[in-house]
Amino acid sequence: MDHRKILVTSALPYANGDIHLGHLMEVIQTDIWVRMQKLQGHNCIYVCADDAHGTAIMLSAEAQKITPQELVDKVNQQHQRDFADFLIGFDNFHSTHSEENRLLSESIYQAINANGHISRRKIKQLFDPEKKLFLADRYITGTCPKCKAEDQYGDNCEVCGSTYNPSELIDPKSSISGATPIEKESEHFFFTLPAFSDMLKTWTRSGTLQDSVANKLSEWLDEELQEWDISRDAPYFGFEIPDAPGKYFYVWLDAPIGYMASLQNLCDRTDYDFDEYWNKDSQAEVYHFIGKDIINFHTLFWPAMLASAGYRTPTAVYVHGFLTVDGTKMSKSRGTFINARTYLDHLNPEYLRYFLAAKLSDGIDDLDLNLEDFAQRVNSDLVGKVVNIASRCAGFIGKGFEGKLAEKVDAPELLAEIQAAKPEITGYYNGREYSKAIRLIMTMADKANQYINDKQPWVIAKGDKQSAELQKICSTGINAFRLLIAYLKPVLPSMAEKAEAFLAIDPLNWADIDSLLTNHSINKFKPLMTRVESDKVQAMVAATQKEFENQAKSEPTGQQAEEKVMQSNNSGFEPEIEFDDFIKVDLRVAKVISAEYVEDADKLLQLNLDLGLDKSGTPLTRKVFSGIKSAYTPEQLVGKLTVVVANLKARKMKFGLSEGMILAAGPGGKDIWLIEPHAGAQPGMRIT
Ligand code: 2FM
Ligand code: ZN
Repeated sequence: MDHRKILVTSALPYANGDIHLGHLMEVIQTDIWVRMQKLQGHNCIYVCADDAHGTAIMLSAEAQKITPQELVDKVNQQHQRDFADFLIGFDNFHSTHSEENRLLSESIYQAINANGHISRRKIKQLFDPEKKLFLADRYITGTCPKCKAEDQYGDNCEVCGSTYNPSELIDPKSSISGATPIEKESEHFFFTLPAFSDMLKTWTRSGTLQDSVANKLSEWLDEELQEWDISRDAPYFGFEIPDAPGKYFYVWLDAPIGYMASLQNLCDRTDYDFDEYWNKDSQAEVYHFIGKDIINFHTLFWPAMLASAGYRTPTAVYVHGFLTVDGTKMSKSRGTFINARTYLDHLNPEYLRYFLAAKLSDGIDDLDLNLEDFAQRVNSDLVGKVVNIASRCAGFIGKGFEGKLAEKVDAPELLAEIQAAKPEITGYYNGREYSKAIRLIMTMADKANQYINDKQPWVIAKGDKQSAELQKICSTGINAFRLLIAYLKPVLPSMAEKAEAFLAIDPLNWADIDSLLTNHSINKFKPLMTRVESDKVQAMVAATQKEFENQAKSEPTGQQAEEKVMQSNNSGFEPEIEFDDFIKVDLRVAKVISAEYVEDADKLLQLNLDLGLDKSGTPLTRKVFSGIKSAYTPEQLVGKLTVVVANLKARKMKFGLSEGMILAAGPGGKDIWLIEPHAGAQPGMRIT
């Protein structure tokens, strides 16, 4: 056995918000990988921390009338509890606001500076004269200079999509104090990223990144890189830059150093040796798991900083996509922006671990948590297939044989086949292709169930409940179950533990898959997992909606701001399209001729639309299904004008063919508004 030394991290969650399903997808992906390494006998450490610095956290503490330190301490405990309850096996969870991180950040900065990789120059920025604070783009609102839409944030307009410099906004306001910002100059410190252009071109192409990520990066690397602004002026919650009073490290400088600080903190309490992991000539492996919104920080700035400061660079950065729920971005008003705690109040954490494993790949595509699928998948695979094998066999072993498994199994070839899948399953787990691992494991579970169906132990037991054949058949079933549990252990650590107790065995590891369990007494079987109940899923969604409503009542503007900031955090918009794509969309005025409820559909109404006349003068109608039942009754819709995407390919839905799509906007629920053209518009008019 080779004992590889491996250090693994997940992105550090910000210390001013709750852990939600998006974070969970990442830590579950990482945790499965880490558990897999440990089961294989590698020396693997998994560290994380809270990302505690920055203006947002400073303001958040102020709003709660506590100090930033109190805020980050409080949140750190909540985060740790949430992660532990999802069975995330961190070896250490620390904070970037820690002594270890201060020392490391200072020394890394000093090394970079000594190498001539820090430059200084004055820049002009918008400044809040009341709050005496430089304003990041997202704290400035104003009227869009292009389309004149009001209340637009920072540097891009949500209405017309144009991007601009915040100082170009008409009538800009600080969203913190409401004051009109002024332009002010101050000196900033920059990391000279362009000096690392060649190093990064090599590093990003040396097996460190998925191809899709490396390709994306070459777009940046082919252009000239920009220097990176690493300083912020007081007041700021962070670390002051050495020999630069009033200047602080930008949160993104000390955040990734937090990975090192968390390890340092662990090393100070254990036998682990920090240098073994981070020295320039380290033989250990270092892996960062991150989302696709923070690629540049981890694959450009971070390796360049490490190189400059004389540390090793990461072995690989593994990037995943975003989590969507029921096909769209998580939304508080729809009840799909689900917090870890809200989930735990209603559902078993291993349901989510399993569902995500069954969907996760090694790519950067988004992953959809369809809540119906979720319940169905867990019930049919885990309860219906895996647990079922044990529950079908255990009783007979208990009753007829005092819990003792046979000396020989009945179907060694079946068990050998399940064991033979080990190299393939191992490869899938190590390569983060969990969905493929799960599919193969479930194929094996199907075979085991088929075997039990064929042998019908219940029929034999009716004749002779102590027959040797019955014991051998049920022992085969129990052995199949044991192997499947071992395969699922990285995903389902708690269920595996219960199964180990039932089987009366030591904790399973990967090597145990090569052996069988014979002539061994097991314990009485207790159900290892219960079915997902769909009313619990609905209760979780309803609870999330309630949290949103309560929050919106108590801080209406803060909430809006938060939703907007989240959107501008890269994930809010679809990718840019070309003008040529845009003109392909045939938008027409349509009139609702009739509307009706759709049987069994929660959200849909069926609309019959008048689109005017076609070229030959024949009336043109369209039938579309639209998810606006929560906001309109059919009666309210009849006679209304709206806008329809007339050339959308007809889509077969569960309830029939939908021949277009109408345009509406709003957060959801009661607040969905049809886009209504001016009353003078005529059905069929093209919108340009
Ligand atoms: O995007 C985020 O949520 C950041 N807090 C991630 C930081 S990861 C690391 F670099 F610290
Ligand atoms: Zn605009």
